[in-house]
Amino acid sequence: MTRQCICAKGRGFAFVGMNTIRLQLRFLLPLVITVVAAAYLAVPLMDRINLRWSSRDLNLRAALVTNALSDSIAEALRENNVRRLQPLFARAVQDERLIAIGLCVKGGRLLYATPGFPRALTCERAREIGAQATPDLRLEVGAVHVGVHPVSTEAGVIADLAVLQDLGFIERRSQDTRQYLIILISILGAAIALITVAVAQLSWRGWVQGARALLRGEGLIRPLSAPIPELAPLAADLRERLHDLEDEYRRSLELESAWSPQRLRSLLRTQLRGDQVIVVSNREPYIHEHHNGAIVVKRPASGLVTAVEPVMRACSGTWIAHGSGDADKETVDAFDRVRVPPGRNDYTLRRIWLTPDEEQGYYYGFANEGLWPLCHVAHVRPVFRESDWQAYKTVNQRFAQAVLAEARSEDPVVLVQDYHFALLPLMIRELLPRATILAFWHIPWPNPESFGICPWQREILQGLLGSTILGFHTPFHCKNFIETVHRYLQARIEHEHSTISFEDKYTLVESYPISIEWPDDAATSKWPSPQECRRRACDRHGLDPSFAIAIGVDRFDYTKGILERLNAVERLLEKHPEWIGKFAFLQVAAPSRSSLEEYQSFQERIHHITERINGRFGRPDYQPVHLIAEHHDHDAVNEVFRAADVCLVTSLHDGMNLVCKEFVAARDDERGVLILSRFAGAARELTEALIVNPYHVEESADALHQALTMPAAEQRERMASLRMTVREYNVYRWAGRMLADAGRWRMRERIVARVQRHSLG
Ligand code: F6P
Repeated sequence: MTRQCICAKGRGFAFVGMNTIRLQLRFLLPLVITVVAAAYLAVPLMDRINLRWSSRDLNLRAALVTNALSDSIAEALRENNVRRLQPLFARAVQDERLIAIGLCVKGGRLLYATPGFPRALTCERAREIGAQATPDLRLEVGAVHVGVHPVSTEAGVIADLAVLQDLGFIERRSQDTRQYLIILISILGAAIALITVAVAQLSWRGWVQGARALLRGEGLIRPLSAPIPELAPLAADLRERLHDLEDEYRRSLELESAWSPQRLRSLLRTQLRGDQVIVVSNREPYIHEHHNGAIVVKRPASGLVTAVEPVMRACSGTWIAHGSGDADKETVDAFDRVRVPPGRNDYTLRRIWLTPDEEQGYYYGFANEGLWPLCHVAHVRPVFRESDWQAYKTVNQRFAQAVLAEARSEDPVVLVQDYHFALLPLMIRELLPRATILAFWHIPWPNPESFGICPWQREILQGLLGSTILGFHTPFHCKNFIETVHRYLQARIEHEHSTISFEDKYTLVESYPISIEWPDDAATSKWPSPQECRRRACDRHGLDPSFAIAIGVDRFDYTKGILERLNAVERLLEKHPEWIGKFAFLQVAAPSRSSLEEYQSFQERIHHITERINGRFGRPDYQPVHLIAEHHDHDAVNEVFRAADVCLVTSLHDGMNLVCKEFVAARDDERGVLILSRFAGAARELTEALIVNPYHVEESADALHQALTMPAAEQRERMASLRMTVREYNVYRWAGRMLADAGRWRMRERIVARVQRHSLG
């Protein structure tokens, strides 16, 4: 495998080398051609110029010689004594460049000439040659320059002197000039070529590095270290293309087969190379409690547990949680571990023990009196106490140490759940720098102003930014978080890619709508029929099966809109008295955080309003509202879902809300109507529900009436569509998308590390 990679890399380098040579040849070839052409044209031109300049010099020289000899010639002619000229001319031609002299007198007769004067050269011919632009003559001794100059006296021109001078030195000079010119042009050409190649090489390298960095996605998740201006347009194109590819990839994922435990397992094996998965949450998935002298296992009423438990069954690994059951300590081994689910042993539950003070400060205090109301718009004041904050920090640190103890490698995948552990991602990052940390915030994230109430806002944001990926249910909560970071931290935000860079670490902030496990045939085949469920539920809660039955199933929490729901029921009975005696509303409310004052007074208030409605519309044998403030196990809740005509989910604010999805999953008879608050994250997906504003009592009462009178065909149509959505967008998709993103992130980090190793090496 490694060898293959090295060979491929070798081939890659050879390929890049070939490309560079080819590119350089494209520069060099025209350059060489231009240089050769320049030399080809310049050399004869230089020759001609040289000859012209030399010929002018020779003419001047010949004119000087003629002047110098004029007087002696005039005297010799006057005395008619040509012999006098012989020693004079002989002396003159001793000059090595002067070849011969001839004296031409009237009538073009050559009166006297030195011995070197060619016999065949007449005065007439010499004059003709001398008049040419290049007056040269080829003799046996070589090329000579011919000049005919008048011999003048005061009386005028008395004769002409034909002067023949050696041209050989000019040719030698031309040759030298030609050589120097060629050498100069060659040196210039070589210098230009060298500079061109060097610049091209450097630009090419920079360009290739830049392009590679872009392809590695560095320009996407963080800016290129040194921006290369030439790359700017290309970078934009590449980025766009990468986005398209990523989109295509995502879409193709969506089109692929349904998400199932098998698909999640195979994703873990392939994209995360089977890395260990560790989940951290406050609430444990299985609680051991003493009951009538025996130990029983309880499943908590928790959306988090509903969603994450099937994922853990599929992925195996370790779930670290607070051991809150009174029999928990009796069921763990020496390392505080127990295999769950009971009887199946798919994964390990590692329990963490908290003192009552720690639980009070961290869970009831900071998490549920501070962060919970802070993040939910339910008009309950958050309470922040210093002692709670200290407990929160201590407990987060305790869980971080537990993650370290449970990690079997340096780079496990750690899924940190919810607002109980805002500080944990950074703590884990410090202990296990190579871990992939996926934090999921199960509740809404408020706007920056609201979050500003928290005295430890910076610490919380920094803690969360220790994650590799930080997930919320909706894009709106992601946006709120990013804006909050922008307001309170000096961080760099890339809105385009939804990443935040803080202190050189990147966090991807993404929305992953959570869901439930879609029940398989094995499970549904064991369910009693809807009629049977109705009979049993009515028996258990004292209802008449002929009634129209609406239900609500929640934790007994002020964010769930239970009060508003009761107001809607009351208004329905006011507006439509025909329902009195024919309609019942069953509220199952699992006790939750009951030691908190806010919860106690809320629960009291609900009991009070229930009594009021029952007092107004009830009869000795009829109660319109049935409030069951008890924990119900999964089967009992499922029975209620299948028994109901209408399910009311009227949260005042909710990250997602899984009750509505469980109701839909329970209705394989495609009957029943869902009334859903527009303030629950689920309203984005479940659009076929009757969507209401729970604060608007009139609207909710009307929706209730519409639901109770909805024809079976419309119910079927709406429910079939809702069921398709929930089946497809199940919890395996939620986990799968997060883990796939983590896988891609890990791959990117590996590539970046490898590239950095190469560039250092
Ligand atoms: O809704 C937020 C949340 O933390 C859920 O994730 C969980 O289902 C629920 O609250 C349970 O609360 P608690 O653990 O306090 O009972």
